[in-house]
Amino acid sequence: MTENDNQRALRVLQLTDPHLMADPGGELLGVNTRDSLDAVIAQALHDHGQPDLILATGDIAQDATEEAYRLFGDKLKVFRCPSAWMAGNHDDSPLLSRIAAERQANQRRIVQGGWQFLLLDTSVPGKVFGELAESELVFLEEALSQTPDTPTLVALHHHPIEIDTEWMSPIGLRNRDAFWQVIDRFPQVRIVLWGHIHQELDQTRNGIRLLATPSTCIQFTAGSVEFSVEDKAPGYRWFELLPSGDFTTEVSRATDFVFDLDSTSSGY
Ligand SMILES: [Fe+2]
Repeated sequence: MTENDNQRALRVLQLTDPHLMADPGGELLGVNTRDSLDAVIAQALHDHGQPDLILATGDIAQDATEEAYRLFGDKLKVFRCPSAWMAGNHDDSPLLSRIAAERQANQRRIVQGGWQFLLLDTSVPGKVFGELAESELVFLEEALSQTPDTPTLVALHHHPIEIDTEWMSPIGLRNRDAFWQVIDRFPQVRIVLWGHIHQELDQTRNGIRLLATPSTCIQFTAGSVEFSVEDKAPGYRWFELLPSGDFTTEVSRATDFVFDLDSTSSGY
């Protein structure tokens, strides 16, 4: 590795909650989720060009079908980099892993560009809330124990903190205390990143950036008490990560995407 490589930022694209369906006409509250993902991918390529790594943080399928997972893989073919997919509450985690494995997108621990990426499965079959199985906590702890000097991003689907969107309070990560008890012991963790909440969030906790990202389809209204969607454009998150552990990140949206959101719905 040359000195130049050491200075080069690793470019990471987060795509989250695409909610793809086997039906090509499949819509979520009036939004065709294939079309909105296409718009977000086009926007990311236009804004930034090719990433070095893609993190897909769950709810890849709305209907948990093999077709939806294969479609997601096909959509990612415009990118010339590896991707890593994790399960959300709408996914069938074993099925997702099987299809992801065909595309080497089932890695749970990636070391690239001087950073480590740890992907956790918080999905619980048949439930909307999330929970980390003991095996996930052990995986997290062992990986962090082995890499005290490697800046690390931990990604999961469910929110591991209380957010100000009240109706989502019961559907976050249930055993978040156990999660933070591990994270708090390892200062190399720089970022905790999630999906699920379909809105942008950027906070800091004990020096760790806590980040969430708009869905590539519909957006939940930040600060709402009851279920509510708002007509903000679908989006993605971009990271530039330096081996020193320093990084920048931003959310961008596909503002040209035209859609007719059914904002009267009481659920999704
Ligand atoms: Fe979702």
